[in-house]
Amino acid sequence: MTSNTTKEDFFSTNKNFDQLYPLPISRLSNLHWTPIEIARKAADFLSVTPGANILDIGAGVGKFCLNAGYYAKDCNFFGVEQRSNLVAIANQVQRQLGIRNASFIHGNFTQLDFSAFDHFYFYNPFYENLVDESLHIDDSIAHSESLYEYYAGYLYTLLDTRPPGTRLATYQSSHTRIPASYQLVSSDIDTLFSCWIKNT
Ligand SMILES: C[S@@+](CC[C@H](N)C(=O)[O-])C[C@H]1O[C@@H](n2cnc3c(N)ncnc32)[C@H](O)[C@@H]1O
Repeated sequence: MTSNTTKEDFFSTNKNFDQLYPLPISRLSNLHWTPIEIARKAADFLSVTPGANILDIGAGVGKFCLNAGYYAKDCNFFGVEQRSNLVAIANQVQRQLGIRNASFIHGNFTQLDFSAFDHFYFYNPFYENLVDESLHIDDSIAHSESLYEYYAGYLYTLLDTRPPGTRLATYQSSHTRIPASYQLVSSDIDTLFSCWIKNT
């Protein structure tokens, strides 16, 4: 990127966007951060009502929220992330890009009041608990299969309490535990990207 680089240039390719991050973080992009084209599709699906509050569960360095906020300017994107160093990087890039409708919360999603949010997105946030440490983002937090079970159960129970009409977009996440109250309305890229609406 050069001194003539515009804001639009950053949103034009994954390579350009990832250059906003420190090298050790951009190197994790293929495995851990949402591609810009998926963020755009999810933003289109989730931003049905102006002013809606949309939560990314496990926001990492904010790649989903920042891209979604850029494309869906009349909605508010929030990301909750358990690793404070990733939240700091997300906040820094948010300021650099001036994306005012994206913000980040440091904490565990289990601490959040889900009634503050209208629609939800996630990219397989608990997967690190099931894989070898070489595939972890870092070693700053504990991982275990029992944590996976705990978080997955907690999240799907919470999603089941949301009102009819709630939208959910998922990327690279299993369909098997999505509550039956959510209807699959579209699926793309060999089912890696899926859109759901709660109907009961
Ligand atoms: C695959 S990354 C996705 C990041 C971001 N949503 C994106 O797509 O660019 C999953 C993130 O979820 C976070 N995470 C996992 N469990 C969490 C929890 N219980 N509470 C908050 N964040 C969590 C991880 O630290 C990691 O940064």
